[in-house]
Amino acid sequence: MEVIIQPNEAAAASLVARVVAHDLRANPHLVLGLATGRTMEAVYRHLVTMCLQDKLDFSLCSTFNLDEYVGLFPSDPNSYRHYMDHHLFRQVNIDLRNTHLPNGLAENLERECVNYEALIKRFGGIDLQLLGIGKAGHIGFNEPLSALQSRTRVKALTPTTLKQNAPFFGGEDKMPRRAITMGVGTILECRRCLLLATGQSKAEVIAQAVEGPITSMISATALQLHPRCTVVVDEAAATRLQEADYYRWIFQNEPEWEAYR
Ligand code: F6R
Repeated sequence: MEVIIQPNEAAAASLVARVVAHDLRANPHLVLGLATGRTMEAVYRHLVTMCLQDKLDFSLCSTFNLDEYVGLFPSDPNSYRHYMDHHLFRQVNIDLRNTHLPNGLAENLERECVNYEALIKRFGGIDLQLLGIGKAGHIGFNEPLSALQSRTRVKALTPTTLKQNAPFFGGEDKMPRRAITMGVGTILECRRCLLLATGQSKAEVIAQAVEGPITSMISATALQLHPRCTVVVDEAAATRLQEADYYRWIFQNEPEWEAYR
């Protein structure tokens, strides 16, 4: 695992967007794993700008989102399909037929999960997976005690997650209690993982995820097992990291990051 510390939220989001753009330019057929949430909005803004101003081409790439709420119509403003259409898909030249999210309205949710996994396989697996992290340490909606080898499935949301996302719905009682999410095992199979966390409220969970012991209580700790995982944080989210100076040195000195400095 590699940790990159950036001075602020804008710089951290910009770096993540530039890594995506780099990989997409290197492979126009990139299979891109996507996340939703407040943190990712800035990343998608950068990608839209790069598409409009720098001709970043999404026309051949395919996408798979991590998760979707159970029971919401795609047109529901709180569905993740709506989020993706709004923040990215309708603003770039992607072919909507190549964009995939689990169907939270499927009659048979179990079969939908199996089909989603099969679809990812049919596309040759995910090349680059974007990730956020929840306050309880989830990636996707892999809530505490998610098996480290779990696959796409329906997961009940924890009180912490309900509280985190309730403001979007106007209260916890109005939000779905379950979501379909890629499993931790599904995420670990992606060829590269890129996690972004910003703000003071993520400092404690980032320290646990990156420097703490691997535990299913914090699904993000499983990323320590991934051979190619980069965690990008801003200074606010880095305040609890013990080895922050070492991480800063890496970004300033390692040739891999030269183009991003
Ligand atoms: C959503 C997802 C979640 C979020 C996480 C952080 O697709 O995968 O794991 O990334 O809950 O959300 P924000 O960015 O709103 O703090």
